[in-house]
This record gives sequence, structure tokens and C-alpha cells, in this order.
Amino acid sequence: MATPRVRCDQAAAWSLLRQHFDKGGRGFDLRQAFAQDAGRFAAFSQEAPHVFADLSKNRVDAEAQALLVRLARECGLEAHRDAMFAGERINTTENRAVKHWLLRAPRIAGDGDSQAVHETLDAMLAYAERIRADAGITDVVNIGIGGSDLGPQMAVAALDSFVTPGKRFHFVSNVDGHELAAVLKQLDAQSTLFLIASKTFTTLETMTNARSAKAWFEAQGGTDTARHFAALTTNVGAARAFGITTTFGFWDWVGGRYSLWSAIGLPIAIAVGADGFRQLLAGAHAMDQHFRTAPLESNLPVRLGLLDVWYRNFHGFTSRSIAPYHSALRRLPAYLQQLEMESNGKSVDTEGRALAYGTSPVLWGEPGTNGQHAYFQMLHQGTDTVPVEFFAVRRPAHGLPVHHDLLLANALAQAQALMQGKADAGGHKNFSGNRPSSFFLLDALTPASLGALLAMYEHRVFTSGSLWGIDSFDQWGVELGKVLAQDIAPRLATGDAGGLDPSTAGLLQRIRGA
Ligand code: F6P
Repeated sequence: MATPRVRCDQAAAWSLLRQHFDKGGRGFDLRQAFAQDAGRFAAFSQEAPHVFADLSKNRVDAEAQALLVRLARECGLEAHRDAMFAGERINTTENRAVKHWLLRAPRIAGDGDSQAVHETLDAMLAYAERIRADAGITDVVNIGIGGSDLGPQMAVAALDSFVTPGKRFHFVSNVDGHELAAVLKQLDAQSTLFLIASKTFTTLETMTNARSAKAWFEAQGGTDTARHFAALTTNVGAARAFGITTTFGFWDWVGGRYSLWSAIGLPIAIAVGADGFRQLLAGAHAMDQHFRTAPLESNLPVRLGLLDVWYRNFHGFTSRSIAPYHSALRRLPAYLQQLEMESNGKSVDTEGRALAYGTSPVLWGEPGTNGQHAYFQMLHQGTDTVPVEFFAVRRPAHGLPVHHDLLLANALAQAQALMQGKADAGGHKNFSGNRPSSFFLLDALTPASLGALLAMYEHRVFTSGSLWGIDSFDQWGVELGKVLAQDIAPRLATGDAGGLDPSTAGLLQRIRGA
């Protein structure tokens, strides 16, 4: 039975936060806050497994922090979190449990789902090791989209320094044939393994790409589908009907954007090996334990989620910029976009009632230092305040001298400049400062630290979504466009514009050259 939740705007602390914001939140100045409190860095930084977070450059004081924690308690965050970890069906609009955390938990005796998780994990990792040892397979092509693409693609890039030599990894997601065609022309069918990754095994893009890949494989003389195709899916029957006999399953209680820990992570396991994949899971599990057991006041995902509520609903900030100062994290912004915006981009609560407050901000970003030479102008001098999240590692994975100090110096300097500003020059050269940022520091980018960082984000999204009273685990908003595309697709061939709005009809005719 789902645990009752209290929506943030119906909790007593909500109006206290409003009062506090009017009194001292709106005019809060970071520079004054540091000048008045020598202990601010210590008070507003947080140690968690594998991740150190400096939150002190955020526009939050001790009173706001305490009221936000009170809000979380009044909303029933702890009970909601415990309900997730107890396997309750907290994804109410789809009537599903939410158990991606179980994928990274050690085997739980007497728990049937945990037994199934570990049986599949063992089989998948044994398969990954066989592929790694098989010099006849040089190219691994993951065909999937959304959660069946973004997580594995991001993680394989992030863990590049751990990736086995001799294998190339490709990710094809778009229904745009340019993407698949560009990959196919690099391949030899006899040395390629296609992984068809789809939770549902019905997604238009993935099925179209999978059919084209299979047709190409057969046209090249390929016959051994069992060796060259594997399916990663909850819909094993559909994969078999498609002609794939090598399959790795998962379960409906794993959301697509939370699935890289499941069979969907097979490309990661082939890339970094069974031990590396187990370390990724262990890092995430350590963060799960932190989220489950640390008091709300010193719970990193909770503190981040509360800050998100404070910024979105009181300061009114509508976006957040992701700045990974590590080029291997170049796909992190795209991955986080799905995780946060597909989870929390909702405008009704779990009962379907309209919300009178904002939910997911827009997430966007590029690796540093590249972003500095593009859009950081707007972050420093634009009319909007955009909180920035810096990610950096202490130890690089390369041995080139000079680079890493310069990289870190730039990350620190940007955060400093955003906060301090510079008022003496005036006019066009003025920097208003007081622009907030968070700084996440890892010792090194390893499977374990990456796992912890991603789990931290998952639970942060859970926290803000929980207070907002929404279902963070459904995604009904993606359906309408899919249905309309099915209606439009045959019209591109026939030219039938009947019943279409004038703009769509006009564009259809233009595309057909009519
Ligand atoms: O359209 C959105 C979505 O359902 C995502 O939630 C999901 O990650 C993606 O499509 C891919 O779905 P599937 O893994 O079932 O192909």
C-alpha cells in the first residue's frame, strides 16, 4: 500500500519558508554570508561515499536549511524513501514498484527478486567476460534510446581509462538513418556484436534500427545471429520473436532512466569488465545506504533535492547548468537531462491535481573549459541567475603535465568569479556576482565513484519529486508525440493532409515538394 504523502505547499513549513525568503532569502548575499561566518565552508559542505560536495556558494542560510529539512519531514520524505526501499508500488500511475536500488544491493537471502537480479547479473557478467576475451569481436554496437542509450553511453565514455583495449563501442539511438549508416560503414559483420537494448522492445527508433542492422548483417553474409546479436529487455518474448536467442532480462520495476545498473549496462560490463561493473554497483550501493540512513541534515542527496526546491519555488530559478570539468563526463549533461527532466517534468500531483508551483528546472551544459568560451558570458552577466554545478576530480587519468592544474584552476576560478563578481570597473565590465554554484569533487573518476555520483543524482531527483508530490517514475508526457508520429508517417508517402492543422499540413506538402 502506498504511503500517504503531504504535498509541499500543504505543509506548515512552506509558508515559513515563504516568510523567511521575503525576510532574508531574496536579498541574501553570498559575499556577506562568508564574511559573517568563518565556518560556512564546513557547515555547507557534505561528505558522502566517494563524493565531496561544497554547497557553501549557494544562496541558503542555516535557517532556510533547517526549514527545508522541516518541510521534508512534514512531507513524509523519510516514509516515502523507506516505501521505495521496501518495494512498495510508489510509481502509482503505472502501479509499479521502484527498485533500481535492488540491482546494486548485495544478494538478499530469501528475496526472490534479489535472487533473480543476481542470477541475471552473474550470467550477464560471464557473457561480458567471454566477449572481452573473444578477439574475433572488435566492435560492440548498442542500439537503444533514452534510458537504453544515455546511461551506458555516458558511462562507457566516463570510464574510458578502464576500457579494455581492442574493442570499439558505438551507440546508435536516433531513428535518423544517418546515424546507423555512419556506424555500419565502419563495421565488418563477422567481428561485430549488436546489443539491442529496449525495456519494452517496442520503441520505434530501436526496432527500426534493429531491423536495419539485422538486414545489413544478413546482406553481408552473416548467419550466426546467436553470436552477433543479444537483446537486453524486459520483453524477452518479443526479442525471441524478432529472432534473437541471446537475451538478458530485467523487470518492470526498473525505470528506463534508472536502468544502467541492469542488463542495459551490458556495454559497460563489456567495456570495463565484471569487476569494474561490480565496483560501479558497489559505489551506487554505498550512496543508497547513505541516502537510507544519514540524518536528513547531513544527507547529500536530500540536501541537494531541498536546495532544488528552494531555488525553483522560492528564488524562481528555472534552469541549472551542468559543468563537468572532465572531458570523459561529456555525456553527463544529456544523461542528467533525462534523469531529472523526464522524472520531474510534471504539472500535476499523484492525484492528478494541477500544481501551483514549478517542478523540474531545465538542465543543460557542456564540459569545462569549453563552456567558458561559449555560454559562460550569460552565466556571469546575463539577466537570469542560473545555478551552476561543477564536477572535478583530484587525480586525472592521464600523465600529461600542466593540464590538470589548469583545468582545476579554471573550475575554481569560474565558481569564484560567479560568486564574488567585480564591481569596480562598472558598465559593460561589471560582474554582479552573488551567482550560486555547487562543487562536486571526486578523488578520481572510477567505476565506484561514478556509481556513487549517479546514485546521488537519482536520490536527489527522488527528494525534490517527493516534496513536489509528483510521480517521478512515470513519463506520460512522451506518449502523445509518439501516437501522432504514427498517424503522420504514412501521410509522408501518400500526401494525405486531411484533418491535419494548417501548419502541419503546409509543412507536409512542402516536404513532399507539392
Ligand atoms: O519515450 C521515453 C522512453 O519510454 C524512456 O522513458 C525510455 O528510457 C526510452 O523511451 C526507451 O524505451 P525502451 O527502453 O523501452 O526502448
